[in-house]
Amino acid sequence: MAHPILNIAINAAHIAGDLLRQEFHQVASIPVTQKARHDYVTEIDKTSERQIVREIKRFHPDHAILGEESGAEGESDHVWIIDPLDGTSNYLHGIPHFCISIALQIKGRTEFGVVYDPMRDEMFSASRGGGAHLNNTRIRVSKRNSLDTAILATAFPFRQRGMMSVYTGIFSEIFKKIEDVRRMGAAALDLSWVAAGRMDAYFEIGLKPWDVAAGALIVREAGGVVTDFDGNDRVEDSHSILAAPFKLMTPLRKIIEPRWAKAKR
Ligand code: IPD
Ligand code: CA
Ligand code: CA
Repeated sequence: MAHPILNIAINAAHIAGDLLRQEFHQVASIPVTQKARHDYVTEIDKTSERQIVREIKRFHPDHAILGEESGAEGESDHVWIIDPLDGTSNYLHGIPHFCISIALQIKGRTEFGVVYDPMRDEMFSASRGGGAHLNNTRIRVSKRNSLDTAILATAFPFRQRGMMSVYTGIFSEIFKKIEDVRRMGAAALDLSWVAAGRMDAYFEIGLKPWDVAAGALIVREAGGVVTDFDGNDRVEDSHSILAAPFKLMTPLRKIIEPRWAKAKR
């Protein structure tokens, strides 16, 4: 039996997931607004977030919310961090790879997280100390212990093009040592797929708390390690992320950390 709080998150993700799935086929007629260059929001993102918040507030009206679309609301040591549609660009292009990400932080620490892929009906979930699950099955990060045969997920800093040269420096060094990369377009699913061992590791620059809060917990509960490019654990407060099984972490950090430190000087 999942913890009651996790059940609230799972139900909210199912409600929003039904909406995303139903509207996906008529996406061409959905109004789109540009938040910034290469950053779009649809009426679906906003409705999805409203539905998730409504579901949470039904049980916990006193909890605070940090939602991608509505911002911060309320004061509490319980904060729900919500990405109502992670992978908006995929959604707008008709690419069926996107998700909903919901995490609950208590006193600044992520205790519960769910990432739901409505097109595959895959619910990734974790509670701190309780392991990570895909639907009802326990998941673990990959057992690969060498980069040579590893497939990594990543993303280009498409909203912060100024970061492109440091990113490509890191990317080309990593690429020399691995089998291949994937750029799937939904950060929370990249993390969840690392947790499920489908991809061996994931790195990206230019993220927000709602992109990573739930997914980072899911990777850790699946036995993986998650830090930012400086080696700090608090990836929700950072803009970079590296997630991998312990054995791949050391070779990846050796590539990333000196290049990142040099770029920041
Ligand atoms: C984005 C996606 C994308 C990642 C970006 C995120 P959004 O989230 O996760 O894969 O590369 O960094 O901002 O805007 O679709 O919710
Ligand atoms: Ca996102
Ligand atoms: Ca989003």
